[in-house]
Formats: sequence, C-alpha cells, structure tokens
Amino acid sequence: MTDLSVLTGLPFDRRIHAFFAYLADRRATEAVGEGREPGVWEVFRHQEAVQVLGDHRTYSNDMNHFIPEDQRRLARAARGNFVGIDPPDHTRLRGLVSQAFSPRVTAELEPRVKRLAERLLDDIVEDRGPTAPLDLVAEFAGPLSAIVIAELFGIPESDHPMISEWARALLGARPAGELGVADEAALRNVADLVDKAGAYLVHHIRERRAHPRDDLTSRLATTVVDGRALDDEEIVGVVGMFLIAGYLPASVLTANTVMALDEHPAALAEVRARPALLPGAIEEVLRWRPPLVRDQRLTTRDAELGGRVIPAGSPVCVWLASAHRDPLRYDDPDRFDIHRPAGRHLAFGRGIHYCLGAPLARLESRIAVETLLSRSERLEISRDGSLEFHESIGVLGPVRLPGTLFTRR
Ligand code: HEM
Repeated sequence: MTDLSVLTGLPFDRRIHAFFAYLADRRATEAVGEGREPGVWEVFRHQEAVQVLGDHRTYSNDMNHFIPEDQRRLARAARGNFVGIDPPDHTRLRGLVSQAFSPRVTAELEPRVKRLAERLLDDIVEDRGPTAPLDLVAEFAGPLSAIVIAELFGIPESDHPMISEWARALLGARPAGELGVADEAALRNVADLVDKAGAYLVHHIRERRAHPRDDLTSRLATTVVDGRALDDEEIVGVVGMFLIAGYLPASVLTANTVMALDEHPAALAEVRARPALLPGAIEEVLRWRPPLVRDQRLTTRDAELGGRVIPAGSPVCVWLASAHRDPLRYDDPDRFDIHRPAGRHLAFGRGIHYCLGAPLARLESRIAVETLLSRSERLEISRDGSLEFHESIGVLGPVRLPGTLFTRR
C-alpha cells in the first residue's frame, strides 16, 4: 500500500487502516525518505519530526514560493497569515495576539463555551425530542468552535454560519497536492474564496478601526508596533487564519474523541463513570488519531536528516500521525490507551509555530464531550455510508458524523 490517492472514497475504517499501514511500512524501513511526488521528502519517525519542527532556520514555513505568478493575489492574502511566515515577521505578528490565547485567558472562556455547548444541544433536543438524531459535527462541534472563535474577533452572530462555510470550503480545498505542492485548479478556487472572505473582513476591520470594541479585530486594527500600524491586508491574513485554524481542527478533535470512545466501549464506560479522565482521553486521541496528520516545511539549505541529505529548496512533509505511532518513542503505539502517561505529542506542532489555540481546542473539546455525555445516557454513532470524511488527507476526521442522542430522563 503505497499510493494514498486510492484512499479517497474508501469506507472510513478501511481508509484509516490503509493510511496507517502505509505509514507503518515506510517507518519500519526509513526515518526519512523521498516521497511519491518528485522532490518532496517525507518524515516518518518521531526523533526526526522533532528535529525538523525545532529548526526553523533550516526548515521554513514560507511556502509562497509555490504560488504561481498568476495567483499572486493569494500571496497578498497570506501576508498576515503567520503560520506561513518566518521570523522576524512571524515573531512580531504572533506577539500581537499570543496573550489573548494564553492558558489563563482561555480558561476564563470556560463558562461561555459551556453555555454555548448546552444551548446548541438543548435547541436540538427541544426541536427533535428526547431521542434526538443529530449531526455531531455540522450541528454541534462545528458551530461551537466557529462561534467561539468568531466571537473573539467580534464577528456578528448573524454572519457565523457564513464564516463556518468559508472555513470548511477553504480547508477542504487546500492549495496543495497530496503532499503540499501547489495544484493550480485548487489554487484558483481558493483564490476566489479568499477574495470574497477578504472583502468581508476588510469591511469588518474598517468598522472596528472607526469604532473599536473589546475584541481582537479592534485590537489588531488599532495597535502600533515599532511606530507602524498593521495594514488591512495583514489584519485580514491574521483574522482569516484564526477563523480557519480555530474552526475545523477543533471540531474534528471533538468528533475524533467521540468516535475513538465509541470504538473503545471500556474506555467510554470509564470516562462516563469518572469525567476527570476525559482530558487524558483527549490527549490520547490527539496522539492516536491527530486531527492534522501532517505538517509542512521547505528546506532553506541542504539538510542532514535521518542519515539522508535533503537538498535546499525541497518541500518536507512531516507525518505527525506517523511520529505518534513510532515504537522507538511510544510503547505499543497502535493501542488506544486513555491511561497512557502524558508524553508530549506533536498534534499541535512544536517549536516557534506551536499551535496558539491548543488551550482553546482542549477546552472546547472537553466541554463538548462532557456536555454530550452528561446530557445523554447513550450516544449512538452511525457508521454506515452517512459518515463523510474530509477530502484533504491533511485533516483526518469527519465532516459529518450522524448519531442519535438518548437524553437522560
Ligand atoms: C485540535 C485542534 C487543533 C489542532 C490539531 C491544531 C494544530 C496545529 C498545528 C499542528 C500547528 C502548527 C503548524 C506548523 O507547525 O506549521 C498549529 C498552528 C496554529 N494554530 Fe492550531 N490547531 C488546533 C486548534 C487551533 C485553534 C482552536 C486555534 C485558534 C484559536 C488555532 C490557531 C493556530 C495558530 C494561530 C497557529 C499558528 C501559530 C504560529 O505559526 O505561530 N489552532 N495548529
């Protein structure tokens, strides 16, 4: 099993099996190897993954190089999107918002996230009765993440569904081939969406610059760093990145947790009996089935890694999902074990680009799953054809997760 493109369209269980079998095959024979796309390198083992993510001078996040000349409008939209920017600009932009996502500030959001989660479920139960069919991603986990991040940036509630739709479409149509190299048709679609979302955000930014409120868009629109204010394009990049990054992977983490517990009834029974086990279970889901299965870099110079020399200018795909199953790093790595001692996984990356939203993602998923469990005596997941997975293999998790909530009487 070497060709991942055949995974599209397979039923989920076979797809997951084939995906992890591919990674296991490659990992058993090499830490680092040339990919199936010419010139693209793949990293399979934990130690080498950590080495790449920890060395931003050799492994750059700036992929603008791959955007074709006729799609330069995309490069403009990428200006404030600091996940794709190297220091010193990365340091400056990240510094502007990092405090707002610290574990302390995030913890203060707990009551609001809890109220939202309860309201979303209550509305569904009120509408459909105590045995309520629902789509756990599209109607619950997705809206929860989208509303939380949109509120932080002051996006009006009436626009939340539109924002989730854009985020889903943008992530579904990543400007990348299978391993991160540009695909032109996908780029054109993305560029059109980015234009539409960009126009909306510019309007929002100007409104907040004129009438600042207590939200992150207002802060970005009025901050001056080293005597210079951010321009509209940069702010669109920052806000757009958060709306996308803050929405999809977090809702996928909730869905993957529900699915993993559904696949492991003993673990589910333990978590139901002792909700304090849930944070550990979520950490294990992040390791065992991470929402983002890979990270990407571009070498700035010849790089020695895992006994190979990767030439300067090469795209490098770091398989986080493979590093997490490396037997050199984890005992019995394929086993899902909610009691596994907390070891740092790479699901949120590592190094200077470490996920800013990690505390928020953990909080949202914990509250979402806690609310589902406390409101229900049973939760049934439908594993027939109605389960749909994200097209992009960078995101491993369902777009739709139909189920039935049997509420407590
Ligand atoms: C389970 C959910 C999430 C996962 C698995 C995840 C994963 C990641 C990963 C792997 C990176 C590193 C990218 C790289 O190394 O190039 C990253 C970066 C980032 N994430 Fe998340 N993320 C999640 C949720 C969130 C949320 C909720 C937010 C928003 C509040 C967020 C905002 C960001 C930002 C802003 C960056 C860029 C940081 C930088 O470049 O300095 N993420 N995320």
